[in-house]
Amino acid sequence: MPRNPTAAMFLLRCATANQNINLNKLNSIMNDTFLKACKGEKTTYTPIWMMRQAGRYLPEYQKVRGMVTFLELCKNPELCVEVTLQPIDLLNMDAAILFSDILIPMEAMGAHLEFHEGKGPVFPQTVRSRIDLDKLIVPDPVEKTGFVMETIRLLRKELKVPLIGFAGAPFTCATYLIEGGSSKVFWETKKMMYTNPSLFADLMDKITETTSKYLLAQADAGAQALQLFDSWAGILAPSDFAKYALPYAKRIIEDCRKTELPFIYFANNGATLLDLSVTSGADIIGLDWRINISDAIKKVGNLAVQGNLDPFALLLPKDELRARIRKLLDDAKDAHGHIFNLGHGIHQFTPPDQAKYAVECVHELSQR
Ligand code: CP3
Repeated sequence: MPRNPTAAMFLLRCATANQNINLNKLNSIMNDTFLKACKGEKTTYTPIWMMRQAGRYLPEYQKVRGMVTFLELCKNPELCVEVTLQPIDLLNMDAAILFSDILIPMEAMGAHLEFHEGKGPVFPQTVRSRIDLDKLIVPDPVEKTGFVMETIRLLRKELKVPLIGFAGAPFTCATYLIEGGSSKVFWETKKMMYTNPSLFADLMDKITETTSKYLLAQADAGAQALQLFDSWAGILAPSDFAKYALPYAKRIIEDCRKTELPFIYFANNGATLLDLSVTSGADIIGLDWRINISDAIKKVGNLAVQGNLDPFALLLPKDELRARIRKLLDDAKDAHGHIFNLGHGIHQFTPPDQAKYAVECVHELSQR
């Protein structure tokens, strides 16, 4: 692998242009920097990808999205491949993340899902009683979400960077089912946790079982790393996180251990939960931007870290953005593996050239 990622890309283009290329040769010029950093191995530069890197900030995504609804897009493997590849080709990311949504397996459980323009996901039939819960099944992931596995298989033929598969963590998925969509106060979720803990636990068990099977199927189809998104973990007090959320994430990570794939656990707004997240069993701890990465590294021991630039820092003037990235790389120098990322998903109004510039800065400033 050449030190310079641009040179690597050039070699790859030459290689893929040659129809008779031998697969071993091709593999030898695969960009595996991300996978090495996941394992805490030395890399010639710090790899970068951005959470939600395929999405509305890219005009190329908007063009595809203009032809279909969001759910139609998620269920069309050819289009999913196209939008997954966009940030790799346009911005030179070091890892791809499967294009899908954390709520796709919830729909497969039997929860009717809609996406409303400007509002996001909606589950018109909320899950708030035993009767509601009994209607949900633990689906066979290949039978009910075969389009996801097909997307992974197609992507692996195209990609020259590793492919990350993902799912939502059970707590985060449960909030959507219980609230019926996004929420600000999570009244119904906490009400169920505190007033009907056995119903809450049974719902979490069902989601956990579904998610383990779903991630194992992704691994089977060819995913090369797995990430669990716990977007709403940060609404919990540490003792509640330890009781109502973490054990279920742990179980999934344990179930996926047999795949030997690097596992990333990302608890958004999780600075106060970090000591607990470290016990999740994940190999890599995703960090949001609210914590200084050097403080986090002191807490995670031998685990690798992923993060954690404030997504809005991409709006800074270029010289200030560059300085921030330099500082973050420097603060992360003692990590046992650092994957550069944003502290949460890229915002839909981010100028793509700023995201591209950030990728260039990380590649240039981290050369070693
Ligand atoms: O990262 C990627 O590029 C892969 C694709 C991906 C999407 N959603 C596509 C998407 C991933 C990894 C997700 C994860 C996801 N989905 C999370 C966890 C990450 C996070 O941001 O905390 C959550 C909470 C969801 C649920 C969800 N999906 C919401 C709340 C929304 C609406 C709000 C929003 O951000 O748009 C979605 C829709 C969604 N998921 C879009 C995309 C590209 C926008 C849909 C559109 O094109 O209109």
